[in-house]
Amino acid sequence: MSAPDPIEAEDASHDADLGVYRRATAGDPEWWRVSIGERPETYRLEHGVDADPASHGAATVDIDLVVDAENLRAKLKKWRREGFVLERDVAASEAGAPARIAFMPELQRAHMRMLAAKLRDAQAEDAAIQQALDQTAGKAANRPAIETVRIGNLDVRCGAAHPLVPRVNPAYLFSPRFNDIVADIVENRRVMLIGHTGAGKTSLIEQVAARSRHGVLRSNMNGQTTVGDFVGFWTVKGGETLWVDGVLPTAMREGLWLIVDEIDFAEPSILAALTAVLEPQGRLVLKEKGNEIVAPHPAFRLFATANAVGAMSQFRHLYQGANLMNEAFLDRWRVYLLDYLTPAEETDVLLRTLAPYLTQPLASTLAAIAADCRAAFAREDLSSAFSTRRLLDWAELMLRTGDPERAAGPAIYAKVSPEDAATIRGIVRHHIAPVG
Ligand SMILES: Nc1ncnc2c1ncn2[C@@H]1O[C@H](COP(=O)(O)OP(=O)(O)O)[C@@H](O)[C@H]1O
Ligand SMILES: [Mg+2]
Repeated sequence: MSAPDPIEAEDASHDADLGVYRRATAGDPEWWRVSIGERPETYRLEHGVDADPASHGAATVDIDLVVDAENLRAKLKKWRREGFVLERDVAASEAGAPARIAFMPELQRAHMRMLAAKLRDAQAEDAAIQQALDQTAGKAANRPAIETVRIGNLDVRCGAAHPLVPRVNPAYLFSPRFNDIVADIVENRRVMLIGHTGAGKTSLIEQVAARSRHGVLRSNMNGQTTVGDFVGFWTVKGGETLWVDGVLPTAMREGLWLIVDEIDFAEPSILAALTAVLEPQGRLVLKEKGNEIVAPHPAFRLFATANAVGAMSQFRHLYQGANLMNEAFLDRWRVYLLDYLTPAEETDVLLRTLAPYLTQPLASTLAAIAADCRAAFAREDLSSAFSTRRLLDWAELMLRTGDPERAAGPAIYAKVSPEDAATIRGIVRHHIAPVG
């Protein structure tokens, strides 16, 4: 069999002809739209005189027919004679950026439609939960309301109280940058946060959980965590053989949020167990326990953190022993690169944590020092990262001692190499003039 003639093949496809046709004359409301028909090799032609054919539902279509390729070619010829051109070509002649002009307004409309649909789904889900609650609570009058808490620009459903709910940090700052991550949590997506030590990966998840009252389990892969700890194991107690659930089935059954910290250090057998539950409804099969199936509780969420994965791979030399994660595995997650807070945000956090003692000028100077240290780290002038935790601790000790240099000893200098300490001391002196 010979390969299809390229000219013939190109001729047969009308993909490039799909879209809205208008006359270039400004203000002419007449349009034709060409889209793919339902049956193969057919095209749908619609005609209208509305201002905006792309706004679904709003445009009035007065002609709607299905034609074959040959018919379409004839129509295209006729329209060309009448001065109709594909809309993106009009835009192209005007702005020189065809795809961009046509794509963005179209996407905007698609985006609004999806938001509306999500809102409807959420309302239907709330109604279903409410109904279930009513059945258990008996009368509708004393039914418990479904509680949600506003985090950033989202309403997050609250969980039942649990001893593992983290404590709310009142000084924690939800940056608008976190909104997409919170939306993924609401949608039950698997979220991986990557970024330097102390950038705020763990605290972001914990603070969302704290505010929405979900219990959190953490499992660090950079240590002695075995597949037994993670999945479960058999043990003998008082002459009886007992199965002990690992953190994964525990979190799945109890509806806890599981953070797999430093996932780039995990053993392959742990990653294999995880892969099964990366789909939102993914079940875990406990092979060691006669293939018992663990289905996820609706409140169960799975998170991972890593320092040197994906976009952070350039810093692998700083995180010795980290494994490269394969792309297929990464593609099962939404991966967010979390950067340190900006100096303005960090100033805010310092003030929230240590006001009224710490004042605005002090806080902004300290935030600027942290920013300079991180810039030095990025240039490889420093080999240690500078976390918000470290900054807060330094500031607190500085308030107690009244001496930034003395406070920097236990909070910073003793934790880094002498070379790094000297570099940081130089940055500090640059911002804080010595007394006298
Ligand atoms: N947005 C924030 N608001 C207030 N404090 C923050 C914020 N992000 C991070 N921190 C502080 O920085 C510390 C380190 O963050 P952490 O979540 O432990 O970092 P990571 O998990 O990336 O190593 C936290 O204990 C918290 O005190
Ligand atoms: Mg962490």
